[in-house]
Amino acid sequence: MKKLILWAGMAASLLVVGCAENHQKEITVIPAPLGVELQEGTFRLNAQTALWVDAPQEDKQKLEACLAASPVKLSLAMQEPRDNAVILKQVETLSGVSSPEGYVMSVSSGQVKIEATTGAGLFYGLQTFLQMAVGTGELPAGTIVDEPRFAYRGMMLDVSRHFFDKEFVKKQMDALSYYKLNRLHLHLTDAAGWRIEIKKYPRLTNFAAWRESPTWKEWWNGNRQYKEEGDKDAYGGYYTQDDIRELVAYAQERYITLIPEIEMPAHSEEVLTAYPELSCTHEPYKQADFCVGNEKTFEFLEDVLTEVMELFPSEYIHVGGDEAGKASWPTCKLCQVRMKKEGLKDVNELQSYLIHRMEKFLNAHGRKLLGWDEILEGGLAPNATVMSWRGTEGGMKAINAGHQAIMTPGEFCYFDSYQDAPDSQPEAIGGYLPLSKVYSYNPVPDTLSQDKVPLIYGVQANLWAEYIPTPEHMEMMIYPRILALAEVAWSSPLVKDYGNFHARALKAVEELQAKGYHPFDLKNEIGNRPGSDEPVEHLAIGKKVTYAEGAAYYPGYAAGGDDALVNGIRGGWTYGDKLWQGFIDKKGVDVVIDLEEEMPIHSVGADFMQVCGPGVFMPAEVIISASTDGEEFTELARIAHEVVKDDKVTFKNFGWEGETTARYVRYQATYGPFGGFLFTDEIVIK
Ligand code: ACM
Repeated sequence: MKKLILWAGMAASLLVVGCAENHQKEITVIPAPLGVELQEGTFRLNAQTALWVDAPQEDKQKLEACLAASPVKLSLAMQEPRDNAVILKQVETLSGVSSPEGYVMSVSSGQVKIEATTGAGLFYGLQTFLQMAVGTGELPAGTIVDEPRFAYRGMMLDVSRHFFDKEFVKKQMDALSYYKLNRLHLHLTDAAGWRIEIKKYPRLTNFAAWRESPTWKEWWNGNRQYKEEGDKDAYGGYYTQDDIRELVAYAQERYITLIPEIEMPAHSEEVLTAYPELSCTHEPYKQADFCVGNEKTFEFLEDVLTEVMELFPSEYIHVGGDEAGKASWPTCKLCQVRMKKEGLKDVNELQSYLIHRMEKFLNAHGRKLLGWDEILEGGLAPNATVMSWRGTEGGMKAINAGHQAIMTPGEFCYFDSYQDAPDSQPEAIGGYLPLSKVYSYNPVPDTLSQDKVPLIYGVQANLWAEYIPTPEHMEMMIYPRILALAEVAWSSPLVKDYGNFHARALKAVEELQAKGYHPFDLKNEIGNRPGSDEPVEHLAIGKKVTYAEGAAYYPGYAAGGDDALVNGIRGGWTYGDKLWQGFIDKKGVDVVIDLEEEMPIHSVGADFMQVCGPGVFMPAEVIISASTDGEEFTELARIAHEVVKDDKVTFKNFGWEGETTARYVRYQATYGPFGGFLFTDEIVIK
């Protein structure tokens, strides 16, 4: 029999194989398996196909339940069948597989056999089988040897900014586990609402879980008031401890670990309004950070974590740690006393005092601390694991100090960004993170030495929910991008290929829709901003640009520096893509381009963008002028623009068309009434 062998390294051809009979066989599994060896022949499911699970009782139950809940219907065999069967077998050792989550699946015309050394491995083999069987019920004969690249494959859901009930969370766990993700991190607490019942502190859920406005945006831009549970128009909700137990059990059935996040010392306005004595000034509605000088803070946090640990078996407990303003600490007597007594030289060290203490507490209870990368500031707690969100520097720093890191950089892993042309999407926080960009992420930085790679524990997508008020919208932001993240987390870079993945993702979107999910409509994706993928040709390319005094570009948005506006490269859908140059200096934009010789010119123009949330506005006026000597300029156009605030991301060209002769072109743009940034990407002269 002719055998076609395909192993990692043959990315493009991995999943599509021409057979002897000259028809195509496809394995459209997500994430792409590591090694696939296909043979001639097919296994066909029919009404008599039986399931036989040979695994410890607990795993056997989970695996049988998973199959029973799937669209693939098999009968349970009473004894091990020989033929027409799907057999799942836990074995002592498995050659070619080193991860406990790996599996080997052998398919012949008579049976499908999945072997693994753990229940998790069998579960992942089963997901591969289900993805292959769905639809036609036919599987090509052959062998799949598969294991994950990373042990931690996660998704974070923000259930504070908007509350999503337990049924929503369960539904997402069904899909996450189908794509072999194994961690679900719940952001349970934040200013916008506390979402977990803590028996010892009832105000957290009968007050701090409820607010005035149903949308975060209205609430945040308004008075940010909380409400009593049961008040007319109170918006919010929380998980009772029974709900949490139900979610934990549901997760365990799918080999998912639920990781709770309890924010400290910041993002805690809701707690400090319910229990103002835990803030520095003891005033409700005034503070975001706990008072670190007050022992009551530690009593509260330890009490909360004690109840949290009773509910969540997760080895890791996430303590947040991000974005502490620390505003009241320098003037708080108790904080100052604490700093003196503990020999802490600044407020960063005061924050790390809190984190270290909480780590000791968690460690003493057999748990480990996980936190956002700010927990590095002021000294990292001894056994902490860092979630690197502000780029990968935090993760690298943690790794270089011998700690584990989970990579979740905003640029690739923040699913609250737009996934397509902003004007085709509901309002998002900004940014642009299409499927292809998520897919392109490699969590192992090139600069990392080989011996440190094992310290990269894994990768996670984060979905912050400020602008996501409904479950349907939440799902649209998750899918299909989480499928790309799943492949980043599971598959070897050697088997990754975006074109191939895209085809599988299109199919997966249809499958998700059929199952009642609301994925983004990938087949109608618009893609990047027109013109941003192809360089523009024009007269100023590579010419010298002189920036006027008081019109320097902002170093954080340099877009490569002095030639950014004449390099032929347009920006994309976000000013954060390093292709847009940002101005916040006194005069706005004021540049002169020297074309090196006098020449006829017919048009001068530049695009600007507006995103009001982060303070990016259109110019109020643009002046375009030209000169033959660089001294005397003649005004070609003066364009006034009324800058109006809106909720959209908009782009506008400000230009002149006509006939003139010039060597020098001056382009000026001034700020409107709201100040903020001006962003432009290219001054196109033709
Ligand atoms: C974060 O995005 N503040 C972790």
